[in-house]
Amino acid sequence: MSYLRFPPVRGAVWTGYTCTHPDHRGRGIARAVKLQSLAQAAELGVPFVFTDNDSENAPMLHINERLGYGPRPGLVGLLNRVDK
Ligand SMILES: CC(C)(COP(=O)(O)OP(=O)(O)OC[C@H]1O[C@@H](n2cnc3c(N)ncnc32)[C@H](O)[C@@H]1OP(=O)(O)O)[C@@H](O)C(=O)NCCC(=O)NCCS
Repeated sequence: MSYLRFPPVRGAVWTGYTCTHPDHRGRGIARAVKLQSLAQAAELGVPFVFTDNDSENAPMLHINERLGYGPRPGLVGLLNRVDK
């Protein structure tokens, strides 16, 4: 599964959750399905598609790099622990 998330009114288009059943991983399915979602975006005239990625999810990072996704310049993720 992989799908495009459109904002209700305006804003960026994102790839929604990409996943493959554990019994069928490692066969190029996630890459193919995510590529298909990018083809749909291109057909619809969407100029950019955003995605995010857990930094420890090596297969997904690899897929995203192969599909042409790159880091967003200037974006820094921050976390403030407030139960200390
Ligand atoms: C991540 C996930 C979608 C991958 O699905 P998949 O169908 O097995 O992926 P593909 O077969 O299309 O591609 C996997 C690629 O990762 C590569 N890979 C696998 N393990 C890797 C590792 N440890 N480091 C780097 N690359 C790795 C494979 O070699 C393959 O690349 P290649 O085709 O260039 O050789 C699947 O593991 C999954 O559903 N995980 C749980 C959900 C999840 O984490 N989704 C991502 C949310 S952002």
